[in-house]
Amino acid sequence: MLVAPSILSADFGKLSLEIDAICKAGCDYIHVDVMDGHFVPNMTIGPVVVEAVAKAATKPMDIHLMVENNTFFVDLFAPLKPEFISFHIEEEKHPHRLIQKIRSLGIRPAIVLNPHTPPESIEYLLESLDMVLLMSVNPGFGGQKFIPSVVEKAQKLKALIEKRNPECLIQVDGGVSDANIHTLKDAGVDVVVAGSYVFKNDYAKAIESLKV
Ligand code: DX5
Ligand code: ZN
Repeated sequence: MLVAPSILSADFGKLSLEIDAICKAGCDYIHVDVMDGHFVPNMTIGPVVVEAVAKAATKPMDIHLMVENNTFFVDLFAPLKPEFISFHIEEEKHPHRLIQKIRSLGIRPAIVLNPHTPPESIEYLLESLDMVLLMSVNPGFGGQKFIPSVVEKAQKLKALIEKRNPECLIQVDGGVSDANIHTLKDAGVDVVVAGSYVFKNDYAKAIESLKV
């Protein structure tokens, strides 16, 4: 299992120290939650802060867009060279075009599905994607309770991925901890995002406990 701590739960007063600490604690990616106050009822950080994250990081960034105007934000964050940019299918009229744009910028494209969105809705996009992110909470805030139906959804998505593009990764975001990590692994999940679970515990121990 690959582990991407969400910096939403970090102490922003000492952000570069927090980034350094999670990199040294063995994370695989740094998950950056970008919220615009429109697609979700919360606002987080823009390119100025994410540039500071990129400077402090020794691991690649995984940028999760929770915004209304995806193309605008892709252009804004692309110069920071993240490994992944993921955008919500619920907010994009031309997802195939945007996937191609992200890839043309040298970034790995990923799509995010809210808890109600069926995996079949993106079946015909799978061959052009590097990752699908399944939300296991409603996007907008850290520290929420895990929604268990994501497990069945991951199993269904795994079957579609086997058929269409076995290289595509499955990521789960929200309420992940040592209490559900084995269930997620068994369902075929490759990458987990964990915010409060990592930042409220010893970083290295928490990350290690998710590497099942
Ligand atoms: C929620 C964000 C998550 C969040 C996860 O909208 O996408 O990445 O920070 O936090 P936890 O792990 O605390 O649920
Ligand atoms: Zn996220």
